[in-house]
Amino acid sequence: MNVNKIVILTGAGISAESGIKTFRDTGGLWEDHPVEQVATPEGYAADPALVQRFYNLRRAALKDVEPNPAHVALATLQREMQARGGEIMIVTQNVDDLHERGGAKNVVHMHGELKRVFCAACDHHMDCDYDIFVETTCPACKTTSTVRPDIVWFGEIPYHMDAIERAIKKCDLFVSIGTSGAVYPAAGFVQIAKHYGADTLELNLEVSQGSYHFDETRLGKAGSIVPDWVKEMVG
Ligand code: OAD
Repeated sequence: MNVNKIVILTGAGISAESGIKTFRDTGGLWEDHPVEQVATPEGYAADPALVQRFYNLRRAALKDVEPNPAHVALATLQREMQARGGEIMIVTQNVDDLHERGGAKNVVHMHGELKRVFCAACDHHMDCDYDIFVETTCPACKTTSTVRPDIVWFGEIPYHMDAIERAIKKCDLFVSIGTSGAVYPAAGFVQIAKHYGADTLELNLEVSQGSYHFDETRLGKAGSIVPDWVKEMVG
């Protein structure tokens, strides 16, 4: 492996074979809700109970899914890179916990996490493995009706952008896995990586909106093509 610094961006496609629906394929993840209703601050303000229920169901559904070989392979790559003194950042747009359960550490969840919630009044963020309701009281400030899913909705600013951009600007290789390239800022990471001189590789089921930006695109299911690529990398 002659690559020293890698940034990997993952999207819903990496969790598809675990049984979590992607967003933009038929019958996508918003489960027949208009996206404005369940993935915007305005939708939450209009009907917080409905939105809490939607995310409670998705959080509970995590118990029925398992990481697949793509998650496990990335965790292996992370361990190998670090053992060899290299740097690797796994950035995910996914709000599931399958990278962590596949063995990856320090995963950067730029769109938040289903198993986290925060208080909109005092900004206290906390782990959450249970249902929350409009009536839930914040354990930090004791306010009621202010605890909400720690999910970055449309119109909100993704997390950890400074750290992600710093890592992309100094990486040798940027790899995008299972994402449609439809949502910015993640869709623009490949251009930043290229601008700063990195090689760029896309692993996806089909040609994506951003494919033409990549030096190389490999098509197939993440559960096969990611482990194959990791084998190439670690030998
Ligand atoms: P999308 O649903 O937009 O795209 C999923 C991509 O994965 C598509 O290009 C599919 O072809 C590909 N795919 C499907 N099955 C696959 C498989 N088995 N192996 C490999 N690739 C596969 O999901 P994202 O790009 O992740 O944001 O969507 C980006 C953001 O849009 C999400 O994080 C979400 C949504 O708005 C927020 O919730 C803030």
